[in-house]
Amino acid sequence: MLTFTPEQRRRFAADIDGDYRPKTKKPIVLVGLMGSGKTALGKRLSVALSLPFVDSDAIIEEKSGLLIRNIFEISGEAKFREMEHKTILSNLKSSPVILSTGGGAFCNPKTRKAIKTHAISVWLDAKPTDLLHRIGNTSSRPLLNTGDSLQILSDLRQHRMADYQQAELHVRTGRHSLRLSMKKILNILEQYSYIEALSDKNGK
Ligand code: S3P
Repeated sequence: MLTFTPEQRRRFAADIDGDYRPKTKKPIVLVGLMGSGKTALGKRLSVALSLPFVDSDAIIEEKSGLLIRNIFEISGEAKFREMEHKTILSNLKSSPVILSTGGGAFCNPKTRKAIKTHAISVWLDAKPTDLLHRIGNTSSRPLLNTGDSLQILSDLRQHRMADYQQAELHVRTGRHSLRLSMKKILNILEQYSYIEALSDKNGK
């Protein structure tokens, strides 16, 4: 679980309109390609709903003492997917959390099944050019360093689309500000009665 400094909390809270509380005990799991905003929005959602924030990539790095790109280099992608599956599974069955997953997690059939069974899945989607714009430096993303990053992202999006579409809720993050993306996520969660607003959307 990641803890935030008071300064981070203030910064995240500035992107949240209104007060909300969860109406479900299920974890909320963010899925989607690299650069779709899973981590940035997950942190803000955790502050908005006063739920712990966990990030599967961060847990894997912390537990193994290795960077994701080193795990890919040393042990290969299949081993990484196994570690990712175990990490996600162990966070689905504890108390409610906001869980941000690595981009390929929901494309692993057994991980996807576990998420769909135990959690509310939210797919964050954006065009490849917007994803790459947000990622910026690709050096920490091993899958993007084997050729033209934009082409790889386009191919991945096409290959993974059918998997991501199985997420329960879909939100386009595009090039929106974090504040606008937060509004969209909170609105859809409220619409599905997974959360409720405690004050009106203007924070009054
Ligand atoms: C991956 C996405 C990465 C990380 C790993 C593999 C993928 O996470 O898990 O490099 O398969 O799309 P982010 O989506 O958080 O960048």
